[in-house]
Amino acid sequence: MTTSSAPSLALPVDDEELAQRLAERLRTVEVMLAGHCQGRTEFVSRAASHLMASGGKRFRPLLVLLAAETGPTPAADEVLVAACVVELTHVASLYHDDVMDEAALRRGADTANARWDNHVAILTGDFLFGRSSELTADLGPEAVRIQAQTFCRLVEGQILETVKPAPDEDPLAHYLEVVAGKTGSLISTSARYGAMFGGASTEVQEALTAYGDIVGSAFQLSDDILDIASESDESGKTPGTDLREGVPTLPVLMALGSTDPADARLLELLAADLTDDDLHAEALDLLRKHPAMDQARSYVLAQTETAKALLSVLEPGSVRTALEAFADLVATRST
Ligand code: IPE
Ligand code: IPE
Ligand code: MG
Ligand code: MG
Repeated sequence: MTTSSAPSLALPVDDEELAQRLAERLRTVEVMLAGHCQGRTEFVSRAASHLMASGGKRFRPLLVLLAAETGPTPAADEVLVAACVVELTHVASLYHDDVMDEAALRRGADTANARWDNHVAILTGDFLFGRSSELTADLGPEAVRIQAQTFCRLVEGQILETVKPAPDEDPLAHYLEVVAGKTGSLISTSARYGAMFGGASTEVQEALTAYGDIVGSAFQLSDDILDIASESDESGKTPGTDLREGVPTLPVLMALGSTDPADARLLELLAADLTDDDLHAEALDLLRKHPAMDQARSYVLAQTETAKALLSVLEPGSVRTALEAFADLVATRST
């Protein structure tokens, strides 16, 4: 199969041969993805290729490829197809997410809703979900069931985010349920598909599914920390979007627990409408300096340690080390 200039490996892999195998397969996946974004009409192809061509870390396909290395058939065609399935599902969800979040910037480019409009963004997302489902059919009924369940969990997480926690519900527990659904589910399925189609044992498949769940949630928690901490050109997105949209994330939930009188202004701002630019900038500035940021980072680190412990079912070696590094990267990532 032909290859193209794909993103370089988002993960530092010590074993040079493993790194080369993964990079080569990722290049193949990249060519396949570009093909799957083509529609019957020029406009659909352009709209569907827009985000795929703008960049992205390709974390989920990389996890499929890496998890497949735990079994005897890591180069199977199904592994590559599964890598496309998860990235197409992911990108589709980004089109919809940017409508929900009224986001203007994604992967360093205008979002589809900003460039065209919400209708184009929603329908293009649907088109890509359709493509992903079509491709999953090639992987058999078990994969279709998993993809459907994953999609339901992802969408339920996104819906739950728009619903405030019930008065008797712990807001942190509500948030963690949202995160597990909207992000943990697809990252977990990436690890699971990799192990499945790489031919790993049932025990390894189950361990990697559980690992993916934790790493996936941690990935979103890190993303939420970055939404507060990072500058636009680092993440390719507009920082402070969660605050502006009134979505309380881990650092905010941790800061809200403060009884320190010095936090009175921050708590007042967090209860206010932060669509006002000045108030938003002030809240962002106070939060960036707040100890809740480090508290949130520590929480994520503890989660990734738990995920890494699940890898003890694997033989020690470069694949296990790379999966550990993948979890570490999630906790420490800056983009
Ligand atoms: C963004 O995902 C949405 C989240 C679930 C946090 P990524 O951070 O993987 O985005 P890309 O694919 O690199 O653009
Ligand atoms: C994205 O969540 C989750 C999905 C796309 C399913 P966010 O809204 O928190 O992610 P970003 O910050 O826009 O990437
Ligand atoms: Mg968003
Ligand atoms: Mg969102």
